[in-house]
Amino acid sequence: ISLRQYNTMGIDARARQFSTFGTLDTLQELTALSDDGSLAKLVLGGGSNILLTRNFDGLVMKNELMGIELVSETDTHYYVKAGAGENWNQFVQYSIGRNWAGLENLSLIPGNVGASPMQNIGAYGVEIRDVFEELEAFHLKDKKVVTFTNNDCEFGYRESVFKGRYRDQFVILNVTYRLNKTPKFNTSYGAIEQELERMGVKELSIRAIADAVIHIRSSKLPDPAKIGNAGSFFKNPSVPATQYEQLKQNFPGIVGYANPDGSVKLAAGWLIEQCGWKGFRRGDAGCHEKQALVLVNYGNASGAEIYELSTEIMDSVQERFGVVLEREVNIV
Ligand code: FAD
Ligand code: EPU
Repeated sequence: ISLRQYNTMGIDARARQFSTFGTLDTLQELTALSDDGSLAKLVLGGGSNILLTRNFDGLVMKNELMGIELVSETDTHYYVKAGAGENWNQFVQYSIGRNWAGLENLSLIPGNVGASPMQNIGAYGVEIRDVFEELEAFHLKDKKVVTFTNNDCEFGYRESVFKGRYRDQFVILNVTYRLNKTPKFNTSYGAIEQELERMGVKELSIRAIADAVIHIRSSKLPDPAKIGNAGSFFKNPSVPATQYEQLKQNFPGIVGYANPDGSVKLAAGWLIEQCGWKGFRRGDAGCHEKQALVLVNYGNASGAEIYELSTEIMDSVQERFGVVLEREVNIV
């Protein structure tokens, strides 16, 4: 079947087989199919962080495990467990509605709960690891359900053990988040302060922060329902402080933020824009006109065309700045 409606890039690649699962039993039945390794398997959530570069000669298993449950609480925290198939933003808005704090900065990120630990999703000063308690995942080979704590996940910037060495080995079933009874407002990201000011917010609330984030995101990120995309296509690269100082001498406008370890994280969007790619279009493959870090499909681009464009962008950024970009999107 065509996977076009199952990936936000809108790539028209095909899968040999496609099934959904809404229970662990169904997942177990699916994983038992051709268990000799002859049938490749791909778990899919909302399809908002993948680039299909060719047809998938295997079984695509779309996760539809649902349910949101308050499992326990202390004086200070709520422990909330959500099924991997729950829509992420709906879960965030549901939490905000109950005054469960901690997810507000992560409003409007596309995709499902199950993928949130995969790359330790982050936005506007908050990452999932800040609120992550544990998850349960099904090991495809051992057929066992394993619990992962925050440490077990080895979260990093857009990284986890699931994106790294355990890639394609586990199916995340549910995630438990540790949410605050008393909000800890995070307005460290400059754009949020500005937006709250513009909105005329006098008293901070998790609702107000969520609204500010939603406004900022809607103003510059393309809506996948209108233009195919998978969010930031590349990670923001970090360079040693000495290299940053040198770059700053040659390119005074360069945008960078100090990391706790002293290295500097560069805004890849700036580097790409400086190379002239912002708004670039060839056929239906392009670089978004408002956010150069986002590659877009205007309709009928193939995954290979988008991939090729990403390689050209990486080459030109390396040539001009001596900085190597890394893709953030999962290439299939
Ligand atoms: P999918 O694309 O379905 O899957 C992504 C990867 O995870 C695949 O490799 C898949 O095999 C694997 N996977 C999915 N579900 C499971 C599971 N249950 N168990 C095991 N593996 C699984 N990301 C950010 O971090 N911050 C942002 O601000 C942000 N903004 C975005 C804005 C736009 C407009 C778009 C389109 C994307 C954005 N993203 C952002 C990327 C994306 O939203 C996240 O990566 C999201 O978590 C992907 O969820 P998904 O369910 O769509 O994952
Ligand atoms: N910039 C440009 N030109 C551009 C784009 C950005 O010069 O075309 C510069 C601007 O100076 C801006 C700076 O880059 O101030 C940062 O831009 P922005 O605030 O849009 O954030 P980003 O670094 O491009 C990252 C994440 C986003 C996340 C936002 C907000 C990565 C790879 N991307 O983008 O995550 O929403 O910060 O926290 O870290 C995603 O992962 O898919 C994603 C969208």
